[in-house]
Amino acid sequence: MSNTFPSEYLDTIKVRARFPSLDIKDNGVNRIYLDNPGGTQICQSSLDQIQNYLLRNNANSGGTFRTSLDTDAVLLETRLAMSEFLNAETEREIVFGQNMTSLTFAISHSLTQWIQPEHEIIVTRLDHDANIAPWLQLSDETGAKIRWIDFDPRDCTLNLESFEKLLTNKTKLVAVGYASNSVGTINPVKKIAAMAHSVGALVFVDAVQYAPHAPTDVQAIGADFLVCSPYKFFGPHQGVLWAKYELLDSLPAYKVRPAENKPPHKFETGTQSHEGQAGTLGALEHIAWVGSEFGHDYASQFSAMSNRRLHLHCGMAAIQAYEQKLSTHLIEGLLKTSGVRIWGITDTNRLSERVPTVSFTVDGCQPRDIAKILADENIFVWDGHHYAIEIINQLGLTETGGMIRVGPAHYNTVEELDRLLEVLSERIETI
Ligand SMILES: Cc1ncc(COP(=O)(O)O)c(C=O)c1O
Repeated sequence: MSNTFPSEYLDTIKVRARFPSLDIKDNGVNRIYLDNPGGTQICQSSLDQIQNYLLRNNANSGGTFRTSLDTDAVLLETRLAMSEFLNAETEREIVFGQNMTSLTFAISHSLTQWIQPEHEIIVTRLDHDANIAPWLQLSDETGAKIRWIDFDPRDCTLNLESFEKLLTNKTKLVAVGYASNSVGTINPVKKIAAMAHSVGALVFVDAVQYAPHAPTDVQAIGADFLVCSPYKFFGPHQGVLWAKYELLDSLPAYKVRPAENKPPHKFETGTQSHEGQAGTLGALEHIAWVGSEFGHDYASQFSAMSNRRLHLHCGMAAIQAYEQKLSTHLIEGLLKTSGVRIWGITDTNRLSERVPTVSFTVDGCQPRDIAKILADENIFVWDGHHYAIEIINQLGLTETGGMIRVGPAHYNTVEELDRLLEVLSERIETI
Protein backbone atom coordinates (compact mmCIF):
# COMPACT_ATOMS: atom_id res chain seq x y z
CA MET A 1 0.00 0.00 0.00
CA SER A 2 1.57 3.32 -0.95
CA ASN A 3 2.15 6.05 1.57
CA THR A 4 0.08 8.95 0.34
CA PHE A 5 1.13 11.65 2.79
CA PRO A 6 4.84 11.20 3.54
CA SER A 7 6.51 12.31 6.76
CA GLU A 8 4.82 15.72 6.59
CA TYR A 9 1.90 13.91 8.26
CA LEU A 10 2.22 10.24 9.14
CA ASP A 11 4.04 7.39 7.50
CA THR A 12 1.06 5.10 7.05
CA ILE A 13 3.28 2.16 6.13
CA LYS A 14 4.94 2.36 9.55
CA VAL A 15 1.62 2.98 11.29
CA ARG A 16 -0.15 0.11 9.53
CA ALA A 17 2.66 -2.31 10.39
CA ARG A 18 1.67 -1.86 14.04
CA PHE A 19 -1.90 -3.11 13.43
CA PRO A 20 -1.82 -6.83 12.63
CA SER A 21 -5.52 -7.07 11.70
CA LEU A 22 -4.97 -4.68 8.79
CA ASP A 23 -3.21 -7.52 6.93
CA ILE A 24 -6.11 -9.96 7.15
CA LYS A 25 -7.67 -10.84 3.81
CA ASP A 26 -10.93 -12.66 3.12
CA ASN A 27 -10.86 -14.80 -0.04
CA GLY A 28 -7.78 -12.85 -1.06
CA VAL A 29 -9.46 -9.44 -0.67
CA ASN A 30 -8.08 -6.83 1.76
CA ARG A 31 -10.33 -5.55 4.48
CA ILE A 32 -11.03 -1.82 4.48
CA TYR A 33 -11.97 -0.86 8.01
CA LEU A 34 -14.07 2.30 7.92
CA ASP A 35 -16.24 1.22 10.85
CA ASN A 36 -13.86 2.93 13.30
CA PRO A 37 -16.43 5.13 15.11
CA GLY A 38 -17.95 1.85 16.32
CA GLY A 39 -14.52 0.69 17.55
CA THR A 40 -11.05 0.80 16.01
CA GLN A 41 -8.67 -2.05 15.29
CA ILE A 42 -6.27 -2.92 18.10
CA CYS A 43 -2.57 -2.11 17.89
CA GLN A 44 0.21 -4.63 18.49
CA SER A 45 1.45 -2.85 21.63
CA SER A 46 -2.03 -3.22 23.15
CA LEU A 47 -2.18 -6.93 22.24
CA ASP A 48 1.30 -7.39 23.74
CA GLN A 49 0.31 -5.73 27.00
CA ILE A 50 -2.84 -7.87 27.27
CA GLN A 51 -0.93 -11.07 26.62
CA ASN A 52 1.91 -10.12 28.93
CA TYR A 53 -0.50 -9.24 31.70
CA LEU A 54 -2.48 -12.47 31.45
CA LEU A 55 0.62 -14.61 31.09
CA ARG A 56 2.92 -13.06 33.69
CA ASN A 57 1.00 -10.87 36.11
CA ASN A 58 -2.49 -12.31 36.31
CA ALA A 59 -3.79 -11.88 39.87
CA ASN A 60 -6.14 -9.83 41.95
CA SER A 61 -5.03 -6.47 43.19
CA GLY A 62 -3.80 -5.58 46.69
CA GLY A 63 -1.76 -8.66 47.73
CA THR A 64 1.82 -9.09 48.96
CA PHE A 65 2.98 -11.56 46.34
CA ARG A 66 4.71 -11.06 43.02
CA THR A 67 1.81 -11.25 40.55
CA SER A 68 -0.46 -9.08 42.69
CA LEU A 69 2.26 -6.46 43.12
CA ASP A 70 2.86 -6.52 39.36
CA THR A 71 -0.87 -6.18 38.75
CA ASP A 72 -0.98 -3.08 40.93
CA ALA A 73 2.03 -1.66 39.09
CA VAL A 74 0.36 -2.15 35.67
CA LEU A 75 -2.92 -0.61 36.87
CA LEU A 76 -1.13 2.40 38.29
CA GLU A 77 0.90 2.87 35.12
CA THR A 78 -2.26 2.78 33.01
CA ARG A 79 -3.92 5.32 35.27
CA LEU A 80 -0.87 7.59 35.00
CA ALA A 81 -0.73 7.25 31.21
CA MET A 82 -4.46 7.93 30.90
CA SER A 83 -4.16 11.04 33.10
CA GLU A 84 -1.40 12.26 30.77
CA PHE A 85 -3.47 11.48 27.66
CA LEU A 86 -6.29 13.66 29.01
CA ASN A 87 -3.90 16.16 30.61
CA ALA A 88 -5.47 15.60 34.02
CA GLU A 89 -3.75 17.03 37.07
CA THR A 90 -3.42 13.68 38.81
CA GLU A 91 -4.01 10.01 38.10
CA ARG A 92 -6.39 9.96 41.07
CA GLU A 93 -8.93 11.69 38.81
CA ILE A 94 -9.10 8.71 36.43
CA VAL A 95 -11.77 6.03 36.94
CA PHE A 96 -11.80 2.88 34.80
CA GLY A 97 -14.93 0.93 34.00
CA GLN A 98 -16.56 -1.44 31.58
CA ASN A 99 -17.48 1.26 29.06
CA MET A 100 -18.57 4.89 28.85
CA THR A 101 -22.26 4.01 29.17
CA SER A 102 -21.91 2.18 32.51
CA LEU A 103 -19.72 4.93 33.94
CA THR A 104 -22.22 7.61 32.89
CA PHE A 105 -25.11 5.71 34.46
CA ALA A 106 -23.01 5.36 37.64
CA ILE A 107 -22.53 9.14 37.80
CA SER A 108 -26.17 9.89 36.99
CA HIS A 109 -27.13 7.50 39.79
CA SER A 110 -24.72 9.21 42.20
CA LEU A 111 -26.13 12.63 41.37
CA THR A 112 -29.70 11.70 42.41
CA GLN A 113 -28.95 12.95 45.90
CA TRP A 114 -27.96 16.39 44.60
CA ILE A 115 -30.79 17.03 42.16
CA GLN A 116 -34.17 18.37 43.33
CA PRO A 117 -37.54 18.54 41.50
CA GLU A 118 -37.13 22.30 40.86
CA HIS A 119 -33.79 21.76 39.11
CA GLU A 120 -33.15 21.48 35.36
CA ILE A 121 -30.80 19.30 33.31
CA ILE A 122 -29.73 20.34 29.81
CA VAL A 123 -28.98 17.71 27.15
CA THR A 124 -28.52 18.04 23.38
CA ARG A 125 -30.20 16.51 20.34
CA LEU A 126 -26.76 16.00 18.81
CA ASP A 127 -25.63 13.42 21.36
CA HIS A 128 -25.28 9.65 21.43
CA ASP A 129 -27.97 8.22 23.68
CA ALA A 130 -25.34 7.24 26.27
CA ASN A 131 -25.10 10.95 27.10
CA ILE A 132 -28.88 11.41 27.11
CA ALA A 133 -30.59 8.34 28.62
CA PRO A 134 -28.67 8.49 31.96
CA TRP A 135 -29.85 12.09 32.38
CA LEU A 136 -33.44 11.26 31.40
CA GLN A 137 -33.30 8.62 34.12
CA LEU A 138 -31.91 11.14 36.59
CA SER A 139 -34.81 13.40 35.70
CA ASP A 140 -37.32 10.54 36.19
CA GLU A 141 -35.87 9.73 39.58
CA THR A 142 -35.65 13.29 40.90
CA GLY A 143 -38.46 15.14 39.12
CA ALA A 144 -35.95 17.62 37.61
CA LYS A 145 -36.89 18.94 34.16
CA ILE A 146 -35.02 18.08 30.98
CA ARG A 147 -34.24 20.92 28.56
CA TRP A 148 -32.96 20.25 25.05
CA ILE A 149 -30.39 22.13 22.96
CA ASP A 150 -31.36 21.81 19.29
CA PHE A 151 -29.07 21.83 16.31
CA ASP A 152 -29.12 23.47 12.91
CA PRO A 153 -30.09 20.73 10.41
CA ARG A 154 -28.15 22.50 7.63
CA ASP A 155 -24.72 21.78 9.08
CA CYS A 156 -25.61 19.84 12.26
CA THR A 157 -24.07 22.37 14.66
CA LEU A 158 -25.50 23.12 18.10
CA ASN A 159 -27.66 26.18 18.56
CA LEU A 160 -25.74 28.06 21.24
CA GLU A 161 -28.24 30.94 21.29
CA SER A 162 -31.00 28.60 22.38
CA PHE A 163 -28.58 27.10 24.93
CA GLU A 164 -27.92 30.52 26.41
CA LYS A 165 -31.66 31.06 26.79
CA LEU A 166 -32.10 27.72 28.54
CA LEU A 167 -29.46 28.48 31.18
CA THR A 168 -30.89 29.73 34.48
CA ASN A 169 -30.02 29.37 38.12
CA LYS A 170 -32.19 26.23 38.09
CA THR A 171 -29.75 24.50 35.70
CA LYS A 172 -27.73 21.95 37.65
CA LEU A 173 -26.18 19.89 34.90
CA VAL A 174 -25.28 20.32 31.23
CA ALA A 175 -24.46 17.11 29.32
CA VAL A 176 -22.81 17.66 25.95
CA GLY A 177 -20.85 15.62 23.45
CA TYR A 178 -17.40 16.76 22.38
CA ALA A 179 -17.87 15.29 18.88
CA SER A 180 -20.89 13.66 17.30
CA ASN A 181 -20.57 9.93 16.58
CA SER A 182 -23.14 10.38 13.85
CA VAL A 183 -22.36 13.53 11.86
CA GLY A 184 -18.89 14.35 13.18
CA THR A 185 -19.56 17.87 14.50
CA ILE A 186 -17.12 19.09 17.17
CA ASN A 187 -18.95 21.13 19.78
CA PRO A 188 -17.32 24.16 21.46
CA VAL A 189 -17.20 22.42 24.84
CA LYS A 190 -14.88 24.95 26.47
CA LYS A 191 -17.33 27.74 25.72
CA ILE A 192 -20.29 25.59 26.77
CA ALA A 193 -18.55 24.71 30.04
CA ALA A 194 -17.87 28.38 30.80
CA MET A 195 -21.49 29.31 30.04
CA ALA A 196 -22.81 26.49 32.23
CA HIS A 197 -20.47 27.40 35.08
CA SER A 198 -21.70 30.98 34.98
CA VAL A 199 -25.00 29.71 36.43
CA GLY A 200 -23.31 27.17 38.72
CA ALA A 201 -24.17 24.03 36.70
CA LEU A 202 -21.96 20.95 36.43
CA VAL A 203 -20.74 19.99 32.96
CA PHE A 204 -20.50 16.39 31.71
CA VAL A 205 -18.61 15.96 28.42
CA ASP A 206 -18.84 12.82 26.29
CA ALA A 207 -15.47 12.69 24.52
CA VAL A 208 -15.89 9.14 23.17
CA GLN A 209 -15.74 10.37 19.57
CA TYR A 210 -13.36 13.27 20.10
CA ALA A 211 -10.54 11.62 22.04
CA PRO A 212 -9.63 9.27 19.12
CA HIS A 213 -9.13 12.20 16.73
CA ALA A 214 -7.40 15.12 18.50
CA PRO A 215 -5.55 16.03 21.71
CA THR A 216 -7.90 16.18 24.71
CA ASP A 217 -7.09 18.54 27.56
CA VAL A 218 -9.48 18.36 30.50
CA GLN A 219 -7.81 21.31 32.22
CA ALA A 220 -8.21 23.54 29.17
CA ILE A 221 -11.85 22.55 28.66
CA GLY A 222 -12.73 23.25 32.28
CA ALA A 223 -15.62 20.75 32.48
CA ASP A 224 -16.41 18.74 35.61
CA PHE A 225 -16.63 15.26 34.08
CA LEU A 226 -15.32 13.82 30.81
CA VAL A 227 -15.69 10.27 29.53
CA CYS A 228 -14.02 8.30 26.73
CA SER A 229 -13.58 4.70 25.59
CA PRO A 230 -10.14 3.21 24.76
CA TYR A 231 -11.64 0.72 22.30
CA LYS A 232 -12.26 3.73 20.06
CA PHE A 233 -8.54 4.53 20.11
CA PHE A 234 -6.76 1.28 19.33
CA GLY A 235 -7.22 -0.49 22.68
CA PRO A 236 -9.56 -3.12 24.16
CA HIS A 237 -13.13 -2.65 25.39
CA GLN A 238 -12.82 -0.29 28.33
CA GLY A 239 -14.37 2.94 29.54
CA VAL A 240 -12.72 5.88 31.31
CA LEU A 241 -14.17 8.65 33.43
CA TRP A 242 -12.25 11.75 34.40
CA ALA A 243 -13.59 14.15 37.02
CA LYS A 244 -12.10 16.68 39.36
CA TYR A 245 -10.82 14.88 42.44
CA GLU A 246 -12.80 16.93 44.97
CA LEU A 247 -15.98 16.31 43.00
CA LEU A 248 -15.38 12.55 42.89
CA ASP A 249 -14.58 12.65 46.58
CA SER A 250 -17.81 14.41 47.45
CA LEU A 251 -20.09 12.21 45.32
CA PRO A 252 -21.60 9.06 46.82
CA ALA A 253 -20.50 5.81 45.14
CA TYR A 254 -22.44 2.55 44.94
CA LYS A 255 -19.87 0.14 46.34
CA VAL A 256 -19.26 -2.80 48.65
CA ARG A 257 -18.25 -1.91 52.20
CA PRO A 258 -14.71 -3.34 52.23
CA ALA A 259 -13.79 -1.42 49.05
CA GLU A 260 -11.85 1.81 49.43
CA ASN A 261 -13.86 4.92 50.23
CA LYS A 262 -11.63 7.26 48.27
CA PRO A 263 -11.60 8.06 44.55
CA PRO A 264 -10.89 6.71 42.09
CA HIS A 265 -11.28 3.24 43.63
CA LYS A 266 -14.64 3.87 45.23
CA PHE A 267 -16.15 4.14 41.72
CA GLU A 268 -14.38 1.03 40.39
CA THR A 269 -16.81 -1.45 41.77
CA GLY A 270 -15.82 -5.17 41.83
CA THR A 271 -12.81 -6.68 40.10
CA GLN A 272 -11.83 -4.62 37.10
CA SER A 273 -10.71 -5.88 33.69
CA HIS A 274 -6.98 -5.84 34.50
CA GLU A 275 -6.13 -7.11 31.04
CA GLY A 276 -8.33 -4.35 29.60
CA GLN A 277 -6.39 -1.75 31.53
CA ALA A 278 -3.07 -3.31 30.47
CA GLY A 279 -4.32 -3.19 26.86
CA THR A 280 -5.28 0.45 27.33
CA LEU A 281 -1.70 1.15 28.42
CA GLY A 282 -0.54 -0.50 25.18
CA ALA A 283 -2.89 1.69 23.13
CA LEU A 284 -1.52 4.80 24.83
CA GLU A 285 2.02 3.55 24.16
CA HIS A 286 1.10 3.43 20.49
CA ILE A 287 -0.17 7.03 20.50
CA ALA A 288 2.99 8.16 22.32
CA TRP A 289 5.00 6.34 19.62
CA VAL A 290 3.09 8.28 16.92
CA GLY A 291 4.01 11.46 18.80
CA SER A 292 7.68 10.62 19.06
CA GLU A 293 7.87 9.56 15.37
CA PHE A 294 5.66 12.15 13.67
CA GLY A 295 4.70 14.76 16.24
CA HIS A 296 7.77 17.03 16.53
CA ASP A 297 6.16 19.89 14.62
CA TYR A 298 3.37 20.12 17.19
CA ALA A 299 5.50 20.24 20.35
CA SER A 300 5.33 24.05 20.62
CA GLN A 301 1.52 23.76 21.10
CA PHE A 302 2.15 21.80 24.30
CA SER A 303 4.99 23.76 25.83
CA ALA A 304 3.95 23.01 29.42
CA MET A 305 4.21 19.24 28.81
CA SER A 306 7.13 16.84 28.75
CA ASN A 307 7.95 13.14 28.32
CA ARG A 308 5.05 10.76 27.69
CA ARG A 309 2.41 13.46 28.23
CA LEU A 310 4.00 15.53 25.47
CA HIS A 311 4.37 12.53 23.15
CA LEU A 312 0.72 11.59 23.66
CA HIS A 313 -0.48 15.07 22.80
CA CYS A 314 1.89 15.43 19.83
CA GLY A 315 0.72 11.98 18.69
CA MET A 316 -2.90 13.07 18.70
CA ALA A 317 -2.01 16.34 16.94
CA ALA A 318 -0.24 14.36 14.19
CA ILE A 319 -3.26 12.05 13.91
CA GLN A 320 -5.57 15.07 13.67
CA ALA A 321 -3.52 16.67 10.88
CA TYR A 322 -3.40 13.45 8.87
CA GLU A 323 -7.09 12.73 9.38
CA GLN A 324 -8.01 16.21 8.15
CA LYS A 325 -6.43 15.27 4.83
CA LEU A 326 -8.52 12.11 4.79
CA SER A 327 -11.65 14.15 5.65
CA THR A 328 -11.04 16.48 2.72
CA HIS A 329 -10.58 13.61 0.32
CA LEU A 330 -13.64 11.78 1.58
CA ILE A 331 -15.96 14.79 1.64
CA GLU A 332 -14.84 16.03 -1.78
CA GLY A 333 -15.24 12.54 -3.25
CA LEU A 334 -18.68 12.01 -1.76
CA LEU A 335 -19.87 15.44 -2.93
CA LYS A 336 -18.96 14.42 -6.49
CA THR A 337 -20.87 11.13 -6.23
CA SER A 338 -24.32 11.46 -7.74
CA GLY A 339 -27.25 10.91 -5.42
CA VAL A 340 -25.16 11.30 -2.24
CA ARG A 341 -26.19 13.73 0.47
CA ILE A 342 -23.77 14.35 3.35
CA TRP A 343 -25.32 15.30 6.70
CA GLY A 344 -23.13 17.72 8.66
CA ILE A 345 -20.30 20.11 7.83
CA THR A 346 -19.11 19.74 4.22
CA ASP A 347 -17.05 22.93 3.92
CA THR A 348 -13.45 21.72 3.92
CA ASN A 349 -12.37 25.12 5.31
CA ARG A 350 -14.21 24.15 8.49
CA LEU A 351 -12.39 20.91 9.26
CA SER A 352 -11.43 22.12 12.73
CA GLU A 353 -15.17 21.91 13.50
CA ARG A 354 -15.52 18.24 12.64
CA VAL A 355 -13.87 14.83 13.10
CA PRO A 356 -13.42 12.62 10.01
CA THR A 357 -16.64 10.68 10.67
CA VAL A 358 -18.82 11.41 7.63
CA SER A 359 -22.44 10.25 7.32
CA PHE A 360 -24.55 10.34 4.20
CA THR A 361 -27.65 9.03 2.49
CA VAL A 362 -28.15 8.08 -1.13
CA ASP A 363 -31.31 9.19 -2.95
CA GLY A 364 -33.80 6.36 -3.22
CA CYS A 365 -31.58 3.82 -1.44
CA GLN A 366 -31.77 2.23 1.99
CA PRO A 367 -28.56 2.76 3.99
CA ARG A 368 -28.51 -0.97 4.80
CA ASP A 369 -28.44 -1.83 1.09
CA ILE A 370 -25.48 0.49 0.51
CA ALA A 371 -23.65 -0.96 3.54
CA LYS A 372 -24.25 -4.47 2.14
CA ILE A 373 -22.90 -3.50 -1.30
CA LEU A 374 -19.77 -2.17 0.40
CA ALA A 375 -19.53 -5.25 2.65
CA ASP A 376 -19.53 -7.44 -0.49
CA GLU A 377 -16.32 -5.61 -1.47
CA ASN A 378 -14.90 -6.10 2.07
CA ILE A 379 -15.40 -2.42 2.91
CA PHE A 380 -16.74 -2.12 6.44
CA VAL A 381 -19.10 0.76 7.26
CA TRP A 382 -21.99 1.20 9.68
CA ASP A 383 -25.55 2.04 8.74
CA GLY A 384 -28.56 3.00 10.87
CA HIS A 385 -28.99 5.41 13.77
CA HIS A 386 -25.71 4.67 15.57
CA TYR A 387 -27.56 5.22 18.86
CA ALA A 388 -27.81 8.93 18.00
CA ILE A 389 -31.59 8.59 17.72
CA GLU A 390 -32.37 12.26 18.35
CA ILE A 391 -30.30 13.37 15.34
CA ILE A 392 -31.86 10.79 13.06
CA ASN A 393 -35.36 11.79 14.25
CA GLN A 394 -34.72 15.51 13.82
CA LEU A 395 -33.41 14.96 10.30
CA GLY A 396 -36.44 12.80 9.45
CA LEU A 397 -34.35 9.74 8.65
CA THR A 398 -35.79 7.26 11.15
CA GLU A 399 -38.24 5.61 8.74
CA THR A 400 -35.67 5.35 5.95
CA GLY A 401 -33.00 3.51 7.93
CA GLY A 402 -30.78 6.35 9.16
CA MET A 403 -27.46 7.04 7.45
CA ILE A 404 -24.34 5.33 6.14
CA ARG A 405 -21.38 6.26 8.31
CA VAL A 406 -17.78 6.24 7.06
CA GLY A 407 -15.22 6.77 9.82
CA PRO A 408 -11.55 6.83 8.82
CA ALA A 409 -8.78 6.46 11.41
CA HIS A 410 -5.05 7.24 11.20
CA TYR A 411 -4.27 3.83 9.68
CA ASN A 412 -6.63 4.34 6.73
CA THR A 413 -5.26 5.59 3.43
CA VAL A 414 -6.43 7.70 0.54
CA GLU A 415 -6.34 4.56 -1.62
CA GLU A 416 -8.87 2.93 0.67
CA LEU A 417 -11.14 5.95 0.45
CA ASP A 418 -10.76 5.90 -3.34
CA ARG A 419 -11.86 2.27 -3.38
CA LEU A 420 -14.94 3.17 -1.33
CA LEU A 421 -15.77 6.06 -3.66
CA GLU A 422 -15.22 3.89 -6.73
CA VAL A 423 -17.59 1.17 -5.49
CA LEU A 424 -20.17 3.76 -4.51
CA SER A 425 -20.18 5.55 -7.85
CA GLU A 426 -20.19 2.30 -9.86
CA ARG A 427 -22.91 0.61 -7.88
CA ILE A 428 -25.24 3.53 -7.07
CA GLU A 429 -26.06 3.77 -10.76
CA THR A 430 -27.11 0.12 -10.87
CA ILE A 431 -29.46 0.23 -7.88
C1 LIG B 1 -20.31 9.58 21.21
C2 LIG B 1 -20.48 8.27 21.95
N1 LIG B 1 -20.81 8.30 23.23
C3 LIG B 1 -20.95 7.18 23.94
C4 LIG B 1 -20.79 5.94 23.36
C5 LIG B 1 -20.94 4.73 24.21
O1 LIG B 1 -19.66 4.27 24.56
P1 LIG B 1 -19.44 2.86 25.23
O2 LIG B 1 -19.61 1.84 24.15
O3 LIG B 1 -18.04 2.93 25.77
O4 LIG B 1 -20.46 2.71 26.30
C6 LIG B 1 -20.45 5.85 22.02
C7 LIG B 1 -20.30 4.55 21.38
O5 LIG B 1 -20.23 4.43 20.19
C8 LIG B 1 -20.28 7.05 21.30
O6 LIG B 1 -19.96 7.02 20.01
